[in-house]
Amino acid sequence: MKKLMTLMAVLMLTVLSTSPAQAQAQSPMILGENHAMLRLEQGKRYLLLPVQEKEENAHIAVLDERNEMVKRLNVRLAVDKVDYWVPLEIKNEKVKSKSLLLDITFHGDRRKTGAVKGFVCWREIKYSDTFDTRNRERFRPMYHHTPLYGWMNDPNGMFYKDGVWHLYYQYNPYGSMWENMTWGHSSSRDLIHWDAQPLAIESDWLGAIFSGSCVTRGDEVVAIYTSAGHHQTQSMAVSRDNGQTFEKYSGNPILTSDVPDFRDPNPFWNEDIKAWNMVLAVGQEMRIYSSKDLKEWKEESRFGLGYGNHDGVWECPDLFKLTMDNGKSKSEKWVLICNINPGGPFGGSATQYFVGDFDGRKFTCESMPKVTKWMDYGKDHYATVSFYNAPDNRRVVLAWMSNWQYANQVPTKQFRSANSIPRDLGLFKHGEETYVSVVPSKEMLALRGQKVKQPTEACEIVVDVKGSADIVLANAKGEQVVMHYDAQQQTFAMDRTKSGDVSFSEAFPCETTAPTYGAIRQLRIFVDRCSIETFDAEGKMAMTNLVFPSEPYNTIKVKGGKSTIYKIDN
Ligand code: FRU
Repeated sequence: MKKLMTLMAVLMLTVLSTSPAQAQAQSPMILGENHAMLRLEQGKRYLLLPVQEKEENAHIAVLDERNEMVKRLNVRLAVDKVDYWVPLEIKNEKVKSKSLLLDITFHGDRRKTGAVKGFVCWREIKYSDTFDTRNRERFRPMYHHTPLYGWMNDPNGMFYKDGVWHLYYQYNPYGSMWENMTWGHSSSRDLIHWDAQPLAIESDWLGAIFSGSCVTRGDEVVAIYTSAGHHQTQSMAVSRDNGQTFEKYSGNPILTSDVPDFRDPNPFWNEDIKAWNMVLAVGQEMRIYSSKDLKEWKEESRFGLGYGNHDGVWECPDLFKLTMDNGKSKSEKWVLICNINPGGPFGGSATQYFVGDFDGRKFTCESMPKVTKWMDYGKDHYATVSFYNAPDNRRVVLAWMSNWQYANQVPTKQFRSANSIPRDLGLFKHGEETYVSVVPSKEMLALRGQKVKQPTEACEIVVDVKGSADIVLANAKGEQVVMHYDAQQQTFAMDRTKSGDVSFSEAFPCETTAPTYGAIRQLRIFVDRCSIETFDAEGKMAMTNLVFPSEPYNTIKVKGGKSTIYKIDN
């Protein structure tokens, strides 16, 4: 009787704890110290995999009815606690097989103890037709682009076509830490409100899908990206439905090398030479190629030796022309963007650039080799690249708002990382040097809502300054961000050492300082739930920093200036 009661209780619990839409998976076959298999039942759309972030990745091979591998992925399967679930699609147009088997290999010391059988994941793997992406994070930005769930790094393949801005991004659909690189996709009609789209390019036997870029060619959208397998090679994929789906080119890879860091291709049509050019990051230099058909590439030149900062690997290049308009005359210069990690001015990742000339073959930097120019003097501005084909001759960029020093540790779970607000680039001169100017894209003005007296969790603060100024944003918990504009030194600084949670990485608490190249008259400060982006309204200074306050900053003190605060409701 007692046994029966216990059995009934267990059954009840199972019924109660499993909602009708979700069903628990059957038992795994335990095969050894770090190996198990799980036969999947058919019917539901998703298998929900429980993740525990502190565990090491388990390698999962998805096998079809012929025992062929149809997919492989790495997931930090839960051992004793579930942080969150991620969905693996097991029923859609692409999954043709009648039955699926997961072959799972665990890694890490804990898994060598032979305790695989008792891992929490077996109880928590579930079938479901739905996956809940409603926001569960208090740090999820109100007006910055984020993935619905999972990890995001570099913006990729951005282009504008037929009134729509497309943004792809380095994405892990199976966890909120870097892994399983895939191109996620979002689209927008106003550069601000983004609609999540299905995955655009998924990994294959050439490797994971690393960063790359898109160009438009007639009706087609052509993506060139890095296939990161045993070695990094460049591949191509073509979309005939405006970037919604891509077909990989049968001749991939289209470019190979024996250099280990060989990645992040950025092609563009060069009207001056009526051919395609492409820049590629290779170790600590940029290689420049040309092509007639986007498939066959000829190396034209290399740039970088001895120039700028070399304290890290050069990544994610971009090369384009900008116009300098000083009111009286207009002139054009070429800008080569070169993201670098580590080596940034305050440690870790940052965006440096070079100004000069490009003749379709060779980029010539106009500054002395030792000159280093940074596009943004915050700690959280990386992998900056521009939209291809933006209207009105604009050069609009987005940056990944994080830093490889702590990107995997920031205190969010459901998703990790956001992109910066869109910015428009231009040129300005200071002394003998030409610099890139950075201003918030005009679309940001449309977000200005009601004027308010105190800052809110999402707002734009405009500060008119006359000479030096101090600005302090704070909350009732005593957390604060301290900003100082020093008119004499011509510097702007932001201190986030007491901004809230800074405990997750020693590299996080810091003060960042930027040159202002002359006087600042107006600052534009964009506050969102976990970021502060500060600009000189004229574009001579940009600073992007993450912050994680335990409650929003709701007071502001300004000395030496006058502030106007616009709420951003979005
Ligand atoms: C830059 C980067 C790229 C690479 C990608 C991989 O953040 O390291 O060079 O393609 O991330 O996710």
